[in-house]
Amino acid sequence: MSRQFEFFDHHAANYDLKMKFNPFWRLIKYKEKKAFLLLSISLLDKSVLDLGSGTGFYANICKDSGANVLAVDKSAQMINILEEKKLKTKHTSIEDLNLSEDFDFILAMGSFEFMPNLKIGFNKVFKHLKKNGYFILMYPRSGFTGWLYSLIHTFWKCPSKIISTQELIKVANDHKLILHSNYSAGAINNLYVFKKKA
Ligand SMILES: C[S@@+](CC[C@H](N)C(=O)[O-])C[C@H]1O[C@@H](n2cnc3c(N)ncnc32)[C@H](O)[C@@H]1O
Repeated sequence: MSRQFEFFDHHAANYDLKMKFNPFWRLIKYKEKKAFLLLSISLLDKSVLDLGSGTGFYANICKDSGANVLAVDKSAQMINILEEKKLKTKHTSIEDLNLSEDFDFILAMGSFEFMPNLKIGFNKVFKHLKKNGYFILMYPRSGFTGWLYSLIHTFWKCPSKIISTQELIKVANDHKLILHSNYSAGAINNLYVFKKKA
């Protein structure tokens, strides 16, 4: 297993506690959650695929809103926690994902920046998203905070890749995913909503 997933395995047990009790992470997560909720998506009876679900922060929000959610993560420890929370899971990397169903919504909230090849991620989204379905991506902004985010993760031996909004939109367009809207989600991230062409 790569060092990156040792990092996520190692932090899985404390991930929820950190979001709850560390004031810095609590504020970051609060702003991000607010941006997500402001999208005001109707999720009742919709199918949602959460790529890089972690401990299920967003998967749980979607499930509580009545969606049928599949949470995907490569970290075995994250999967254990998702299962304790009674979420439906698939233990795999995004790169190896190959499901027979497609989804109304796909989320990637803080996971795509850890993929060495972003094009593979967008290709998997294209393959698993229904026509007219939405891909919701939380991704660090380029600039100082993105640089700092990347630097800290390099120090933690968990490399991340930050690209500009323009580059991100270009990769999405190359995979027939068209930008629908784009918001700031706190100090680090932007929240992008892409729609798959009919
Ligand atoms: C920063 S956490 C975010 C978790 C969750 N989405 C949230 O917002 O709380 C990133 C998660 O993505 C997962 N991840 C990163 N790259 C992945 C990949 N290529 N395939 C599957 N999971 C991945 C990690 O294991 C980790 O659980």
